[in-house]
Amino acid sequence: MAQARGQFSSKLGFILAAAGSAVGLGNLVAFPVMASKNGGAAFLIIYLLFVAFICYPVMMAEIAMGRRAKRNPVGAFDTISGGSAKWRLTGMLAIITPFMIAVFYTVITVWLVVYLKELASGGLDRLSQEQTFGEIVAAPSLFGYAIFLLVGVFLILLGGVKGGIERLARVLMPTLAIMLVALTMFVLTLDGASAGIAYYLVPDFTKMSLSTVNGALSQAFFSLSLGMGILITYGSYFSREDSIPGSARTVAVMDTGIAFFAGLLILPAIFAFDPNTNTDDLSTSSVGLIFSFLPKIFLSMQAAVGYLGATIVAIVFFLLVFFAALTSLVSIIEIPISYWIDEFNMSRRKAVLTQAALLTLFAIPATLSFGMSDFFTAFTSYGGLSKSFFDVVYDVFYETILPLVGFTVCLFTAYRWKMSGLTSELIIGDDNYEGSLLQRYLNFALGTIIPLVLFSVFVSTVIQIYL
Ligand code: PHE
Repeated sequence: MAQARGQFSSKLGFILAAAGSAVGLGNLVAFPVMASKNGGAAFLIIYLLFVAFICYPVMMAEIAMGRRAKRNPVGAFDTISGGSAKWRLTGMLAIITPFMIAVFYTVITVWLVVYLKELASGGLDRLSQEQTFGEIVAAPSLFGYAIFLLVGVFLILLGGVKGGIERLARVLMPTLAIMLVALTMFVLTLDGASAGIAYYLVPDFTKMSLSTVNGALSQAFFSLSLGMGILITYGSYFSREDSIPGSARTVAVMDTGIAFFAGLLILPAIFAFDPNTNTDDLSTSSVGLIFSFLPKIFLSMQAAVGYLGATIVAIVFFLLVFFAALTSLVSIIEIPISYWIDEFNMSRRKAVLTQAALLTLFAIPATLSFGMSDFFTAFTSYGGLSKSFFDVVYDVFYETILPLVGFTVCLFTAYRWKMSGLTSELIIGDDNYEGSLLQRYLNFALGTIIPLVLFSVFVSTVIQIYL
């Protein structure tokens, strides 16, 4: 290889970058609503069990694969399997998935930029009107904002692993945490906030069903950025001096902690707005909730803090979501970039430019999917619903494929690399792993129950969405 491979400067650098990837729209919005709809603390317990027993092991396996191979996902499947064409092809799934997720994630992040600009120019009342979201997503001016965002994102990526990705996370992650705490403290002072907390935290086991369990696992998986090739790639930048089990645990705790905290912000805010809110009526779609519903809630705060005060609260919230989305977006675009660098011997500069061109190419139809072009808006239909180009990308790559990629990671690790191979990587930088309970659990579960559970989630999602 022509150039030195990028590396995080320290364990903290890795943890912040991985947490930056993991903390996203899923934590801030989808998780709180899902939890309150599905039995509150009862859902939390199931979610935590999944994080600990299913996701955490997959997380370690992904990071270990990356660190062992020092390559992108395709390269990792290829190298560790000793050049098997079949496994290399499987690895392609872990490149195409992040590639396509980046497409629709870009579109959503552009909307956030538009909202911030609108708020900064005093337009909170406009954003809280029913028709505004539809107008914004269909406005050709989106392309101007998209160029602005993408230039920024690719400049960060040009800065490399340490100077770009890690530096961004070092600044944004602590800022995000402070803003989240400050905003939560403010919201908790509002009248009616306590009803939201009760809704969020009082366990109601009668609301649990098979689809809740399914939903909890998908949510945990995607929230931790699993099945997207991200942790394989970040693992390849992770030092051999540091512990994978320890770092993965910190990332999982941070991600879950922020999701939990976001619930203490979102639900009290919703209940302060309308004490009779029935959370069954709330959409779990982060998109609808953030862009259509929350602006109304912020506007309603003007009774307590005035229009300017309400605008400031809204700006802090949307900045928070924007920072979370930006660090996730950067992480996901890095995966195809690492692929171009490793497998095609490109310089980082050339890889970044290649990826910028490809992403733009796909982001255009995704942006046109909300009314600007009839062709892309009514692109196809399945499961009895009309679907836009954006919807197809979202359904296939976000909703469906992640557990399948996770499934292949488990099978690969357990049956090709073998548990002894995984263990030999996990003990590097971690003296306590060998012989631990954790090791015994992984040895047993990574080739059995974990892939089984992931595969069932995949099948039930397919049935739910496409049939
Ligand atoms: N983990 C992110 C979340 O919770 C999901 C994500 C990561 C999406 C990276 C895209 C890119 O929202």
